[in-house]
Amino acid sequence: MNEEIVKKYNEDFSEATAETVLDFFLEKYKGKIALSSSLGAEDQVLTHMVANIDPEVKIFTLDTGRMFQETYDLIDRTNSRYNIKMDVYFPEWQKVEKMVKEKGVNLFYESIENRKQCCHIRKIEPLRRALDGLNVWITGLRREQSITRSEDQLVEVDQSNPGRIKLNPLIDWAEDQVWEYIKKHKIPYNPLHDKGYPSIGCLPCTRAIQPGEDVRAGRWWWENPEHKECGLHQHQNK
Ligand code: ADX
Ligand code: SF4
Repeated sequence: MNEEIVKKYNEDFSEATAETVLDFFLEKYKGKIALSSSLGAEDQVLTHMVANIDPEVKIFTLDTGRMFQETYDLIDRTNSRYNIKMDVYFPEWQKVEKMVKEKGVNLFYESIENRKQCCHIRKIEPLRRALDGLNVWITGLRREQSITRSEDQLVEVDQSNPGRIKLNPLIDWAEDQVWEYIKKHKIPYNPLHDKGYPSIGCLPCTRAIQPGEDVRAGRWWWENPEHKECGLHQHQNK
């Protein structure tokens, strides 16, 4: 059923602006929709749009416990700029303690399996809680970001919960467009973006990139590009 609705939405909104799409979905799914923000550049654009349409909409972030101080500061700056209170979700402490006891604090460097376990406990499980009871989650995914995202659509069935829709209003935006929008509206952003970090995740798993490198080259830089998803945006066939 959702497949049909999703197909129709993609047709209906194929030419629409991100604001038009958000206007429609925030009204139609009022109380059942949330923006999932990593505080990245795209998410700041979406926070700006969402807060201007309806400041009561749930905006949440998953605090893995390993984020950059600049990201924590940006939560405060964003809350005060838009007069909102983002919801901050944490991992279950028992699971983190058990994992660290068994595999060490820096387990993610040792194998892809370890890295995925850490992402699962620190991000995927809290995401499930954050989305519990919701019909739509909004993300800042862009097709250009990586090979794993090149076929993503504006509206998709959420692979981890087929009853839920995933909405990616900036799916066809170019990086330049994101930055033009941020500058035009003086949107607060992470100062690390000006220091060679186009894509920011956890501190131990993110580094600056060199000019000309792929925008996500600094994320889990020791892994192949095909593996570089933490599971938040996994596809069934990947
Ligand atoms: S990730 O899967 O590699 O971490 P990325 O950083 O590119 O994803 O972000 C893509 C989208 O996933 C963001 O625009 C946001 O919607 C969501 N997202 C990623 N990390 C988080 C987080 N820590 N909290 C909330 N949403 C997140
Ligand atoms: Fe753990 Fe790194 Fe994944 Fe963050 S990005 S949850 S530190 S493996």
